[in-house]
Amino acid sequence: MTITERYSQLRQSFDRRADQYMRNPLTHWIGHSELTALKEMIPPPKKTGEYRALDFGCGTGRVTAMLLEMKYKVTGYDISPGMLERARSAMGDHPEVLFTSTLDAVEGQWPLIVALGVLDYYKDTTPLWSEWSRLLAPGGILLVTAPNARSPLAWIYAWISRFTCQAHVTAPEWLNPAAEAQGFSMTGLRTVFPRYRWGHTIVMSFRLNTS
Ligand SMILES: C[S@@+](CC[C@H](N)C(=O)[O-])C[C@H]1O[C@@H](n2cnc3c(N)ncnc32)[C@H](O)[C@@H]1O
Repeated sequence: MTITERYSQLRQSFDRRADQYMRNPLTHWIGHSELTALKEMIPPPKKTGEYRALDFGCGTGRVTAMLLEMKYKVTGYDISPGMLERARSAMGDHPEVLFTSTLDAVEGQWPLIVALGVLDYYKDTTPLWSEWSRLLAPGGILLVTAPNARSPLAWIYAWISRFTCQAHVTAPEWLNPAAEAQGFSMTGLRTVFPRYRWGHTIVMSFRLNTS
């Protein structure tokens, strides 16, 4: 399957399940731990509204809401118009937020990119690292999450996901070669739900190497 075909498959799947996504209690439950870890790893902006963040794969806008609370100015980007529609109606007309499904609209140098629950859907993650390397500003921070291959719960999640949209478990050492090939270095790592090596989600931060 080409990456264009995978994007189209993901778009259709998330468009179809956008209403359900907001109602899934497990998404909220695990998401709470993931958001808490992300919040601890994101530096607060030095000046309100002057610091821009990209919520990559923003879905219905959970991370966007958290970043706004932290006083970032946020752009939420997602390939699923259905998910974006829910994000827009949940957020209302907020002056510090923009939602888009156009990659061209987010081209630029982002000091902070957060991608919660996006890597899950890629067996080969190379296209994502390549996009992030173009989007991240020099010195910027990229935060990503993925289901942990050391977690039995994550394996169950990946198995069940075959009925909706196939997700994959992974490990930092499996992701690092693809990340490093695009110039990234891992700068932080946590596991959550629970906070043990075998927690459901790995939360990682990366920076682009300076040459
Ligand atoms: C599990 S949802 C997570 C949504 C949101 N980040 C959250 O935590 O609630 C994954 C989202 O990533 C989006 N997505 C997947 N691959 C993407 C890509 N390459 N570019 C932009 N969005 C993508 C999907 O459309 C979906 O809305």
